[in-house]
Amino acid sequence: MILKSTIDKVYETARLEEVIGDFVNLKKSGSNFKGLSPFSEERTPSFMVSPVKQIWKDFSSGKGGNVVAFLMEHEHFTYPEAIKYLAKKYNIEVEETERTDEQKEEANERESMYLVSEFAQTHFSEMLWNSELGKAIGLSYFKERGFTDETIKKFRLGYCLDQWDGFTTAALDKSYKLKYLEKTGLTIVKEDSNNPNNPKKFDRFKGRVVFPIHSMSGRVLGFGGRILTNDKKAAKYLNSPESDIYHKSKVLYGIYHAKQAIAKEDNCYLVEGYTDVIQFYQRGIQNVVASSGTALTPEQIRLVNRLTKNITVLFDGDAAGLRASLRGVDLILEQGMNVRVCTFPEGEDPDSFSKNNDYDDVVEYLQQHSKDFIQFKASLLVKEAANDPIKRADTVRDIVNSIAKIPDRIKKEIYIQECAQIMNISESVLFNTLAQIGKKETAEASKKVKQEQKAFDVVKNEQVQEKVDVQYLLERKIIELLLLYGQKREKFEDLVLKENEEGDLVLEPESIEAKVYEKIFLDLQDDEIELANTNFRSIYKMLINELNENESFSLNSFMTNLEQDVVKELTSILMEEEKYQIHDWARKDIYPKDKEEEIAQLVSETILTLRCFLIKKRMSVLQEQTKDSGKDNREALEEIVNYIHLNKLLNKKLNRVLS
Ligand code: CTP
Ligand code: MN
Repeated sequence: MILKSTIDKVYETARLEEVIGDFVNLKKSGSNFKGLSPFSEERTPSFMVSPVKQIWKDFSSGKGGNVVAFLMEHEHFTYPEAIKYLAKKYNIEVEETERTDEQKEEANERESMYLVSEFAQTHFSEMLWNSELGKAIGLSYFKERGFTDETIKKFRLGYCLDQWDGFTTAALDKSYKLKYLEKTGLTIVKEDSNNPNNPKKFDRFKGRVVFPIHSMSGRVLGFGGRILTNDKKAAKYLNSPESDIYHKSKVLYGIYHAKQAIAKEDNCYLVEGYTDVIQFYQRGIQNVVASSGTALTPEQIRLVNRLTKNITVLFDGDAAGLRASLRGVDLILEQGMNVRVCTFPEGEDPDSFSKNNDYDDVVEYLQQHSKDFIQFKASLLVKEAANDPIKRADTVRDIVNSIAKIPDRIKKEIYIQECAQIMNISESVLFNTLAQIGKKETAEASKKVKQEQKAFDVVKNEQVQEKVDVQYLLERKIIELLLLYGQKREKFEDLVLKENEEGDLVLEPESIEAKVYEKIFLDLQDDEIELANTNFRSIYKMLINELNENESFSLNSFMTNLEQDVVKELTSILMEEEKYQIHDWARKDIYPKDKEEEIAQLVSETILTLRCFLIKKRMSVLQEQTKDSGKDNREALEEIVNYIHLNKLLNKKLNRVLS
């Protein structure tokens, strides 16, 4: 257990905007910061960070909270992991009580896989720096490649001795379980028919130098290993297999070391492999990542998109690979990013080029040879199709296809004009082709806008009919729930955003155990809700404090310390409880049979109903604002759209609670 004093110090020191800034590119917007939601694929920012309140809010997913909540959501940390992460970032010493064997056992599967990988990283660099063979073979290989000591340490490079199971034995000796060595792919386990109780174990990276692959927050997810012999039959590079912690399509090699430079330079260089990243970094160009062998995926682009809108793809000198790679670039365009490309002289790759030239020359080369992707593609295609009219027609379609992917309309137009010149073709031909491609997509998009408008109209109508003071009743209900059940531990059903196997974000049911007061407090924090009724507001604050500090909260002793008129208010709430049955106010025909059994449902429903109510209220205020046509209404409209999404999400959750 981490000591409370450590936790307090972490909260005092951590700055939310700095912590989130490591993962999301934030731009100042009034007194807040704004950025693209890291939880969904959006193009207009709806992710807000308030430095004053130290609270964040993601309109696209409905999530929000404090600094720890962000790390738990984004990095899937547990609470103690998040505290430790922050402590490390701010150089705070973590004081904790010893973990028992039982607690160690409890650390979940993924955590065990992370730990094994962390151990492997340490072990492999230990071998590289301190064993005779490691120094003679592994270290001298890296030195020959031109890597400095500092670079080798920075990227935590290592060496796996050329023995069948040297690493595996070391790990087992340290009580790491074979199960996790196998699950991470570090050890290959083979049944032995002669000896069924003792399967054969092999080190996957036997005799290879290894490149640890880190997540955005610096955890080891897997390894790449390069062979050092000239064995033609064995693969030059071998990677960790897909596992619960390593998803090839969602990782970019180097992102941990590059993220700050990417945001600062507002550009990201994309290269092919490990050695390109490391050599570039060592040369002083730190905003560089690699997709490691596979074609670029949308998830990988999303990682970069949070940090910058600009990406420069670096291609080797050979033309054959170039043609195929161009297709992958359309994906980047589709995400609204600005893409530039740069090719290297015949026979050179980013690795060799940055090794053989000094910093100024590399930077100058990149500046002079980076071309806008569309222009680059257009000139390339023109050259290829110079004397072939049929091919030329295909070419037009090909380039317009790329342009069609660009979300921004003005940019699209500019590109059409430029391509017309490069390809010596009339603009109207290109515009017509674009229109054909665009027709289908436009139809779909306009349908969506209409649906959203409709949803909003429904909201408006409901509101006109609302006569009772719903907000007052709901706030009162919250106080009542706190008074009666505050310390009760309940199972709450919720819908949370999760990634499915295809990597899409979907809403999935999850049940969370918490005390009633914790649930209420955290959920209201999601929207920074303050109760409107001043009496309720002060009672709420007192109650939360009391429940937080006092495990054995008793209604009576709480009331004895209060002013008389507050006590009166509380008593009336408890007395009149039956009179206002706002529970299920939307569908009055259902009422839980046994109240005690339905506390969790009642709590979720009350909070969600209040949140929906406040959203509707806010939306109609915003709508009033937009009626003033003399003003620039863009921000208000944008906010309305955000709230429509949030409202939809909350209604989904509410429907779930009710059913
Ligand atoms: N790569 C890979 N898998 C392969 C080959 C290459 O992942 N089978 C990646 C590696 O990340 C490597 C990059 O592509 O850093 C460049 O490939 P290559 O030049 O072939 O690797 P090097 O280690 O530089 O080999 P060489 O010394 O022969 O140039
Ligand atoms: Mn190479």
